[in-house]
Amino acid sequence: MLDALSASAQPRVVRRGDYAPPAWLVPDLALHFTLDPARTIVRATLKVERNGAHDLPLLLDGDGLELLALRVDGAAVDPVFAGEQLSIALAGDAHEIETEVALAPERNTQLMGLYASGGLLCTQCEAEGFRRITWFPDRPDILTRYRVRLEADKARYPILLSNGDPVASGDLAGGRHFAEWHDPFPKPSYLFALVAGDLVANRTGFVTRSGREVSLAIWVRAPDLAKTDHALHALETAMRWDEQVYGREYDLDVFNIVAVDDFNFGAMENKGLNIFNSRYILADPDTATDYDYDAVAAVVAHEYFHNWSGNRVTCRDWFQLSLKEGFTVLRDQQFSADQGSPAVKRIEDVRSLRAAQFPEDAGPLAHPVRPDEYQEISNFYTATIYNKGAEVIRMMHTMLGAERFRQGADLYFDRHDGTAATVEDFVRAMEDASGADLAQFRLWYSQAGTPRVQALLSHEPGDGRARLSLRQSVPPTPGQPVKQPMALPLRIKLFGAETAAPLAAEQLVELRDETAEIVFEGVSERPVLSINRGFSAPVIVDANRPAADLAFLSAHDDDPFARYEAIQQLMLDTLVLGVTQGRADHGAVIAAVRATLRDRALDAAFIAEAVLLPSESFIGDQMAMVDPEAIHRVREALRRDLAQSLAADWRAAYEGAHANRFEYSPAAKGARRLRTVSLGYVMASGAPDAPEIAFAQFEAADNMTDRQGALTALVNSDADCREAALDIFYHRYSDNALVLDKWFSTQALATRDGTLDRVIELAQHRDFTLANPNRARALVGAFSVNQRAFHTAGGGGYAFVADQLIALDKLNPQTAAKLVPALGRWRRFDAERAQAMRGALERILAVPGISRDMFEQVSKSLE
Ligand code: ARG
Ligand code: ZN
Repeated sequence: MLDALSASAQPRVVRRGDYAPPAWLVPDLALHFTLDPARTIVRATLKVERNGAHDLPLLLDGDGLELLALRVDGAAVDPVFAGEQLSIALAGDAHEIETEVALAPERNTQLMGLYASGGLLCTQCEAEGFRRITWFPDRPDILTRYRVRLEADKARYPILLSNGDPVASGDLAGGRHFAEWHDPFPKPSYLFALVAGDLVANRTGFVTRSGREVSLAIWVRAPDLAKTDHALHALETAMRWDEQVYGREYDLDVFNIVAVDDFNFGAMENKGLNIFNSRYILADPDTATDYDYDAVAAVVAHEYFHNWSGNRVTCRDWFQLSLKEGFTVLRDQQFSADQGSPAVKRIEDVRSLRAAQFPEDAGPLAHPVRPDEYQEISNFYTATIYNKGAEVIRMMHTMLGAERFRQGADLYFDRHDGTAATVEDFVRAMEDASGADLAQFRLWYSQAGTPRVQALLSHEPGDGRARLSLRQSVPPTPGQPVKQPMALPLRIKLFGAETAAPLAAEQLVELRDETAEIVFEGVSERPVLSINRGFSAPVIVDANRPAADLAFLSAHDDDPFARYEAIQQLMLDTLVLGVTQGRADHGAVIAAVRATLRDRALDAAFIAEAVLLPSESFIGDQMAMVDPEAIHRVREALRRDLAQSLAADWRAAYEGAHANRFEYSPAAKGARRLRTVSLGYVMASGAPDAPEIAFAQFEAADNMTDRQGALTALVNSDADCREAALDIFYHRYSDNALVLDKWFSTQALATRDGTLDRVIELAQHRDFTLANPNRARALVGAFSVNQRAFHTAGGGGYAFVADQLIALDKLNPQTAAKLVPALGRWRRFDAERAQAMRGALERILAVPGISRDMFEQVSKSLE
């Protein structure tokens, strides 16, 4: 019949204030798939019910569907389109709508809707992919019971999976077969999923605390089966943890996870059928680093936790996205903290918040945790929604305490189970359960920008009194020039400079006004300020503490995060001074690093984090005008000085962290981390035997952490054996896509000269393709965060990224649009760079047929 218009770059704006409840509900849906990669037929039967008294038509969303038939109550009707929607006028209060459409999964390069990946057929529907499968009101506040029948060629697709519980299966004529799945829980369309393919499962049983038996399975292609134990174990651990910590139990007879190679992001929490990017499932010592192992467990837990925070209680509209994502990230962070060292986990989480979210909040794409408008919702799966959203809920946990927070979570789940809720519902449940007043605190959801807190401590020795003056400000962000003061929970403690003892118990100060003064009595010794301990608020603190105080805290603070923070601040102050003044004294940093390395009471993982210098980009983030070359030079000089001054300590740390056999435990991971960091310093010292040490580790490693750690050290250097190591690595893993991604990204992230040219060359490599999002991110994404290489004078880095993004947008707009922010930071660079960056953005914008995703990101970046 008719082809619906495909979504194009018409700048539509969706506003939160325009929300209206749906005119029609869809309590039941039957879906019938005749699966085929070239031409799949989807028949849908929707039971629709009028929602309230009105005479509005039923509006169905569709994108790129070939409509073959449309019937209302059994009678064929001609379709009427209203914009991108199908509009159906209905006389009664309940009707049955039937549609039949055709799609071509193998030509779906966007990887939204139904697509083919490595011989499988699979789906991705969040946020608006279901409309690429069938005509439907594709909005999260429509909750529907699904019955699904899948038919496919049995030899090619022996396994047929969908949401819920399996109810029937059998053979059909012509070598085909079928499977039927019913999901008893009404769900929004974004949680629909199906998978068809030649898969094998790693299975186990799980008995919930009330005695329900659940069959767990992780489905992969046969050669990958041996790499699924870690993910399966993480799933069981996460299920038990959610029962114990949040009182949440699983609710279906089966829980299936499928790994696919082509995936736009990490993973997806479809009800009873999670679909994962294979990088977050597959792990064995030879191919996965400790970082990968940790990420697998965290993402498996994250998606599982969505069964309650996301599926049982979903979002009313996409402006509420952080309701499920912020809460679920907090839950996965708490889970990971409980599996290893909470301090190290907090350090890692804060580091990634600062690396990804702070720059977003300070740039042209800044938006509140609950945005007010969007053009393309896919662009709002951001570090602000996920990570800042998690910090906002963590602050409630801090202010309410664990017990009252849990009561609030229970109340939220009780009240809203089976419904589509809002951020406001969550905050109100926390208030109602705890009695706390969170009126001002709600500003965290509506005001964008990272708050800054100035802290000034003064001491009046005569009166034994110390005064802490606090002043907060929230910077202007696009569309929000003026801000109100936030409610900020700050954990604060004073230490005596002479005795190194705490001068008083830690206080939880809630800063609510623009300024505040806190008075401490009985302070006879000179006090040293420890503030925002544990990173209790996601803010930037300017405490202007002298190097001596930071060195003191890095040795004596009893909060491990604050200790880490002190040494990092000392490094940062030294580096920033080096860049702005041309030189800085390294003495205090060297002394603090030496003391940390020699402190027997500290665990290796913590030491490794503490002695690592802040990244070049993080140093750049401290400066109004970023000079990438100067930052690189100054940081390398400090690295070399640390390496040479503490040469014996680095060797001792390196050798002390040696393990003979791979083991995945917090202690063994910490040892490997310290080993890699120490190796970096051994290399930086310029010692003639350093490349041999690295190469020997590279060859002898029995795990990917040590192997990639050594490779990275070599690739960052000018050692002769670097090319040999790259070749060996390439040939050893040439059949493993996930490890080849590391081969690409290690080179794209290299700090050495010539990285831009190497990356341009790698884009021509026969293993490079933009069609696979992991590969595109491994080269283009990694390169764009390599501050020095991306900003190579002359603008070649910008031109390269623009070329790649223009090509990628034609295949996969979502993945392309995610890589725009690096170019959008032009305001922070000198005139020449800024102009070249703008030129690259303008060139992208001028491409005819640019996607809505790219249009929004690029046009906002130019404003
Ligand atoms: N909900 C998924 C998660 O667990 C991610 C979905 C991302 N969707 C998107 N359009 N970017 O985080
Ligand atoms: Zn999520």
